[in-house]
Amino acid sequence: MDTATLLDFLGLLVRWLHVIAGIAWIGSSFYFIWLDNSLEAPAPGSDNAKKGVGGELWAVHGGGFYNPQKYLVAPAALPEKLHWFKWEAYTTWLSGTALLVLVYWLRAGAMMVDGNVRALTAAQAVGLGAASMAGAWIVYDLLCKSPLGKRDGLLGLVIFGLVTALSWGLAHTFGGRAAFIHVGAAIGTIMAGNVFFVIMPGQRRMVAAMSAGGKPDPRDSLRAKQRSVHNNYFTLPVIFIMVSNHYATTYAHPQNWAVLTLMMAAGVSIRHFFNRKHKGVYAWQYPLIGAVLLAIVGWWTAPHLPPLPPVKGEVTFNRVRAIIGERCVTCHSPSPTFPGYTAPQAGVKLHTPADIAQNAQRVYQQVVVTRIMPLGNLTKITDEERAVIAAWVKAGAKVE
Ligand code: HEC
Repeated sequence: MDTATLLDFLGLLVRWLHVIAGIAWIGSSFYFIWLDNSLEAPAPGSDNAKKGVGGELWAVHGGGFYNPQKYLVAPAALPEKLHWFKWEAYTTWLSGTALLVLVYWLRAGAMMVDGNVRALTAAQAVGLGAASMAGAWIVYDLLCKSPLGKRDGLLGLVIFGLVTALSWGLAHTFGGRAAFIHVGAAIGTIMAGNVFFVIMPGQRRMVAAMSAGGKPDPRDSLRAKQRSVHNNYFTLPVIFIMVSNHYATTYAHPQNWAVLTLMMAAGVSIRHFFNRKHKGVYAWQYPLIGAVLLAIVGWWTAPHLPPLPPVKGEVTFNRVRAIIGERCVTCHSPSPTFPGYTAPQAGVKLHTPADIAQNAQRVYQQVVVTRIMPLGNLTKITDEERAVIAAWVKAGAKVE
């Protein structure tokens, strides 16, 4: 097996793991935020209140009844068995970073660099990508620890502003797809950093204080809570970024960073609705704001491309075949000649007339509507050639 095939297969396994770990992590984040927001204080003077229970609830799931209770700071005595939640987060970050390396960093020349955005070497692109992840964490963490950290609402706004600035910066550094995924990697790093550097050490200190017969510091609990709430608001934006890969209209938009910002704002707003709803407050203005933002994105990302030049001469299949042979087959044949590729990209083969005919609609979408293909226009297709393909598909994509 050659290296490229091996890397592709590794990518498949790591992506699978990443999605599974991400579901486990975000699932538990949603669950605990729901739990926290849904708790009700026990009756004053009741046994639970005396034990130090600050809130509890009853739930039924999978045929069993559950009665979780949350203690104000901590229970009087440490239970023998305590469940921690950390490997969901670490596995998600580790597999995500591995995937980033496999898919983007090892092929940075094709996957990250876009000469129309900025001329970079592959090594520079990887360096900037890694720096954006580390830098995002450092700036975010300093902000939370600064006096601003005591003003939750304002802090949230500033963080959102910084993520917007990062999106702008990366969109002016990398190709659209790599820019989006690196914003996601930066947010993911902040989320995992919160678990690794703040929430876990705080919890360890709380447990250690109790084991030593003392009382845990409530500041550790508050700090962990704040970071955990931030993580909760990051979830919808980050998941959009992970699937944005399939939607070139978003990442290839000329103002892709603004499209991303609108999507993230919609995600935060919708998440906020759910967080309020768990407390019994139906604040419908938030999903409404989300819907309006999404509608704006839908309208704004609909293709508004400049028209293609008129076609000179007759449009024949042979002409189309020659264009595709020159501009596409390097990446779209069973044995691509483009360095690093060993299989037809996206499973699309364009080396025989039957394959071209079968994929005519998809080719039209990629070459004429979104103009994402040829990837980064590495094979230098001209607008007139795009127009020939458009005319051929419109005339019924006939193969003779
Ligand atoms: C440098 C390599 C390269 C070249 C050249 C190239 N492609 Fe692609 N193509 C790719 C990659 C990589 C993908 C997968 C993109 C993805 O996963 O979103 C792809 C995906 C596609 C898809 C599937 C997209 C979808 O989601 O439906 C079509 C159709 C396509 N290319 C057509 C073309 C055509 C037509 C040309 C020539 C005009 C071309 N490509 C040139 C690399 C290339």
